[in-house]
Amino acid sequence: MTTAPMALKDWHFSIDEQGIAWAEFDREGESQNALGRRPLEELARIVERVAGGARDKSIAGLVFMSGKEKGFIVGADVREFEQFQTEAEVREAIRRVLGMLDRIEAMPIPVVCAIHGFCLGGGLELALACHWRIATRDEATRVGFPEVRLGIFPGFNGTWRSIRQAGPLAAMEAMLTGRMIRASAARAIGLIDELVPSRQNLAWAARKAVQRGRKSKPAGAAMVALRQWPARNLLVSRMRAETAKKANEDHYPAPFRLIDLFAETGGNLNRMKAEETTVFAPLMVSDTSRNLRRVFRLSEMMKAQAPKDLDFKVRRVHVIGAGVMGADIAGWCAAQGFEVSIQDLSPEAIQKGIEAQGKLFARRFRTKATRDAAKARLLADPKGEMVPRADVVIEAIVEKVEVKQALFKGLEGRLKPGAVMATNTSSIMIEDIAQGLSDPGRLIGIHFFNPVAQMPLVEVIRGTDSREAEVRKGCAFVTAIDKFPLIVKSCPGFLVNRVLAPYMMSAMARLEKGEAKERIDEAAKAFGMPMGPIELADTVGLDVCAHVGRILKYPAEGSRLERLVSAGKLGKKSGEGFYTWKDGKPVKVEKPYDKADLAKLGADLVEPLIAEAERALADGVVESADLVDAGVIFGTGFAPFRGGPLHYKARLGQQPVKSDAQRAAAE
Ligand code: NAI
Repeated sequence: MTTAPMALKDWHFSIDEQGIAWAEFDREGESQNALGRRPLEELARIVERVAGGARDKSIAGLVFMSGKEKGFIVGADVREFEQFQTEAEVREAIRRVLGMLDRIEAMPIPVVCAIHGFCLGGGLELALACHWRIATRDEATRVGFPEVRLGIFPGFNGTWRSIRQAGPLAAMEAMLTGRMIRASAARAIGLIDELVPSRQNLAWAARKAVQRGRKSKPAGAAMVALRQWPARNLLVSRMRAETAKKANEDHYPAPFRLIDLFAETGGNLNRMKAEETTVFAPLMVSDTSRNLRRVFRLSEMMKAQAPKDLDFKVRRVHVIGAGVMGADIAGWCAAQGFEVSIQDLSPEAIQKGIEAQGKLFARRFRTKATRDAAKARLLADPKGEMVPRADVVIEAIVEKVEVKQALFKGLEGRLKPGAVMATNTSSIMIEDIAQGLSDPGRLIGIHFFNPVAQMPLVEVIRGTDSREAEVRKGCAFVTAIDKFPLIVKSCPGFLVNRVLAPYMMSAMARLEKGEAKERIDEAAKAFGMPMGPIELADTVGLDVCAHVGRILKYPAEGSRLERLVSAGKLGKKSGEGFYTWKDGKPVKVEKPYDKADLAKLGADLVEPLIAEAERALADGVVESADLVDAGVIFGTGFAPFRGGPLHYKARLGQQPVKSDAQRAAAE
């Protein structure tokens, strides 16, 4: 290969003997490729150079690839989105990118995109502007449009280009759900044109595609018909109904605006192209999108807490206790690829716990071979023989301090040096459990939430005596199993239960005063909570709520909660609690509520949670306000579009971001 003299930082550009130009994206100083300002400027220079080469016939084709081991492009650079204050700025920045993508598409020479790993958002939009898309068939390769999760939709002309290639059904579904699509499925719907077995085959296949002048075909006539009236109208009403089931339009407008765009312009892709930016720009500068981007940054921040300089690698995990939590923790770790041994008092308890993981494995693994492999990684170990080989030992047995103390006393001498020793206790202080150990500094808390598979947060508890190195190793482990670690000081309720308790207890107090439980739950949902506090109490289990309430010293004597628990009415698990439960759902008597009333009640309901979050920050339970917000969002599902309890409180009373039209009117 001869290298053309172009000084680029984020791309490698070369032209080979056959006149094929290779543009390899390899962003300087980053582990992943994101399309930020500099890579886009350099890409524009590459496009300029190739267009010249195509004109004078010195370049016969162009191939886009990634120089990163792990993937193609993860999307636009979210960190740079914050620079946009007005819609006009957004429109201007986008206009330049769209012009460049049009130039790529209009090249008179073949342009091929060769994809391995993630090809998301702006990356997929670049790929869609190419003439032919090749991807590796392996599990790691995924394409998708995750923009809706950030409160926007594809803004680099991905809307109409994906509809052109895949038809409105598949393309709109991909954009509305943000789901990651496997390479084979992407080929089936037309987003990808060709599959190769692995990364080693990509360059060869790309060269062939250039030589043969491959050109992807747009979706067929049937798909074009779906874009026309009246089929489009039917499609649009179905999309609206499906989207409304998953998202509240007041809270998450982006998918609804995308449907509007398709409804109004889908019959004519040129019109869709012309209108995309107009609908996109207000979303980009909206409070909702800013807050969702904040949540994204918080999740990145939590992942970054895992130290990279540690000489600690996890291969084997040992879990003691095969009950509700222990079995699910073990199952989750096995699903993540670790070898896991699980111990309990009886082989039957272990067996039951292992069998319960079948559901998780069925959800996560598509083939019988991968499911069997996960199951084979989960070993019954009634005597704890694997303890000396484990890198992490997690205890999840009964919530009794003396039983836990005795267990750890027996354990500590058997662990291999350097292994993490952790408890999943939800209410006992780490230092109390560590009493009597010869090395109390070794014990930390690794506190999972129920249901383990669905809750992204894991609190890593630093006891009074816990050594910092052990806490750091705990974070590394939590990140390795694909959860978000939050370092929390050992205190009653840690962070998440501490903020949830006053919120739930005050909601129950409203019940006692005669407010309808359905109205309370509806108001919390109108605020943006995933579930109302009364339904949540029933779901968690009223015995668990009462227990946490006692630990956090909420007077419950004579309360309806105590009465229900004494009567064995424990909520969902016993079929009756505050609600009667049928087929796993609470029976509700809904009434039409006034929207403004609900909004007021919703804001009142979360007030105790916010006040407690402020106290937790003041007490130094976690290190920063951002981490409090992150913990509460990922541990309780606190309305993500509000950016976290402390952020929400700080923004209260401040004006929402104005649209350009509102600004102009005000001026
Ligand atoms: P569980 O009662 O479902 O399971 C406990 C298991 O531990 C039982 O199978 C029991 O046979 C076993 N066990 C008891 N003593 C043992 C011993 N000495 N050696 C080995 N196995 C023993 O309890 P669950 O709900 O799973 O809770 C376990 C721990 O997790 C507790 O510390 C609890 O506070 C904590 N936790 C519970 C959550 C929940 O929602 N249930 C959430 C987060 C933490």
